[in-house]
Amino acid sequence: MQDIDACVFDAYGTLFDVAAAAAHCRDDLGDKADNLSAIWRTKQLEYTWLRSLMGEYVDFWQVTSDGLDYALETLGLDGDTALREKLQSLYMKLDCYPEVPDMLKALNGGGLKCAILSNGSPKMLESAVSNAGISDLLVDSYSVDSLGIYKPTPKVYQMAVDGLNVSKERICFMSSNAWDASAAANFGFRVVWVNRFGQKEERLPGKPEHEITTLADLPGLLGL
Ligand code: 2OP
Repeated sequence: MQDIDACVFDAYGTLFDVAAAAAHCRDDLGDKADNLSAIWRTKQLEYTWLRSLMGEYVDFWQVTSDGLDYALETLGLDGDTALREKLQSLYMKLDCYPEVPDMLKALNGGGLKCAILSNGSPKMLESAVSNAGISDLLVDSYSVDSLGIYKPTPKVYQMAVDGLNVSKERICFMSSNAWDASAAANFGFRVVWVNRFGQKEERLPGKPEHEITTLADLPGLLGL
């Protein structure tokens, strides 16, 4: 991929492992861990889309907590407040995927500006970035919170163009969320879909330029 000045990353599922919170509570959750993760993530995203359409924005921390409460009740775990608090605090410091720091170092070494563009609230992003030790590898983190509406509205992607002062055609956008990758391509970014979960292509407007399964392959794609 030529003529790229900046790399912009989705956060949850792309840089940070959304399943890590439940994975760290496997002793408490037993065989419910994977199911809890799946329901929690699905509801979290559904609430962002529904609240955007309803014009009833609350921040991603509230939506994440609401999704967790739905998942815990579905699995009959809603009485365990200690578990709920443990899962919430783990979500504030999700592990980054193992290849992320070296990948960001390679892009910085190649003179590319790197930033996050996410549904996450500023506090959540700050916490995840500092916990992963990647603050010095990012020029900024853009949160939808200042707009009061979630992805995939085009205004969200425009935040990275305005914040970085780089035209959309020279921004390479990465997301593991296929719907996010499609919407970003439809907006006009050059998009690499990080298909970590073996998903099928969405039937949506906007097609990613490349598909990889790990961000370790990104520097090579950019000629680094
Ligand atoms: C993010 O915006 C879509 O949750 C994903 O980080």
